[in-house]
Amino acid sequence: MASIVEVLAVIGVLLLIPNVYRFVSFIWLYFLRPSSIRSYLHGPAPYAIVTGATDGIGKAVAAELYDKAFNLILHGRNDEKMRKVINELRARGTHDTDIRYFLVDAAQPGHDFAQMMEPYKDLNITLVIHNVGGSYGLQPERIDERSEEHILSVVHWNAIFPLFLTRALLPRLRVSAKHGPVLVQFIGSIAGDISPPRLPIYAASKKFLEGLTRGLDNDERYFGTPTGVRFTYIAVGAVVSNSLRADVNLGRPTSETFAKTLVARSGCGKRRVAPYVVHAIMQWAMEAMGEEVVDRYSAEEMANLIAAEEKKA
Ligand SMILES: NC(=O)c1ccc[n+]([C@@H]2O[C@H](COP(=O)([O-])OP(=O)(O)OC[C@H]3O[C@@H](n4cnc5c(N)ncnc54)[C@H](OP(=O)(O)O)[C@@H]3O)[C@@H](O)[C@H]2O)c1
Repeated sequence: MASIVEVLAVIGVLLLIPNVYRFVSFIWLYFLRPSSIRSYLHGPAPYAIVTGATDGIGKAVAAELYDKAFNLILHGRNDEKMRKVINELRARGTHDTDIRYFLVDAAQPGHDFAQMMEPYKDLNITLVIHNVGGSYGLQPERIDERSEEHILSVVHWNAIFPLFLTRALLPRLRVSAKHGPVLVQFIGSIAGDISPPRLPIYAASKKFLEGLTRGLDNDERYFGTPTGVRFTYIAVGAVVSNSLRADVNLGRPTSETFAKTLVARSGCGKRRVAPYVVHAIMQWAMEAMGEEVVDRYSAEEMANLIAAEEKKA
């Protein structure tokens, strides 16, 4: 008969296995795994779409992909700013690939998405980065102090726009996937995980993207013949950008640093990934702390941040 010590030892080993696996996966993903971004450079003239590409993370991701020889379809809302970004990309001189663009206010309802994508319907699109989104900064109002229009615009901006753009693109993406992998990535937010006070609509819209990622991935992968179109939710912590003007530190990289990690992890096979290693560690720490501690801390942080915003105004 096994002694109590032996039984406890077996239980200990069994409990350890998932953590060892998690640790080994972590080391592999962030320090050893070679980038597979070039696997999306297949077929005739491969294109990547990046939404919200005129500033911050989107602009930096567009530059990374341009350097990797992708043709680009960029989205923004300001023609002058877009032309400037395209000139900057061309000035990098790394490649002479095609750059096209479209201008649409993602926070507004009523777009004809099929017509929006009509000019690109014959292009070999292999990568889609749904980056556009935001929260209109940090404000003290609760949802009953907000107009319906404001709330709907946050939902359109972060959830509806990427949903319907994906819907319009899917038939084209399935054609591209006939000769190689195709990836659609939704830029999420840590807010989607912790739902801090005063940001419930933004947080819920990002959480919607996470559910959408899994559902669409299951649709394309397991229901009927696999199409080869895959989906990933990108978990993003703080990143210095136009919408977050703050000092860079270890936990808050520049958009350029973040974009490099996003491109490096693209195609890693996970349906949810925090591309920047420090964000991944912070995410793990928050899980370990438990919901109550995180909720109290994030409420305090939000109160401080909102007070600081009000002082500036
Ligand atoms: N920065 C962070 O700390 C952080 C953290 C978590 C998640 N995220 C997510 O990361 C994504 C990018 O954020 P970011 O910080 O890089 O933002 P950003 O620097 O403000 O850049 C946003 C980009 O989206 C465009 N854009 C904004 N609103 C738009 C609209 N209504 N219609 C069309 N285009 C619009 C902007 O165009 P203009 O150049 O014309 O303004 C710009 O190209 C967002 O989805 C955000 O939720 C960011």
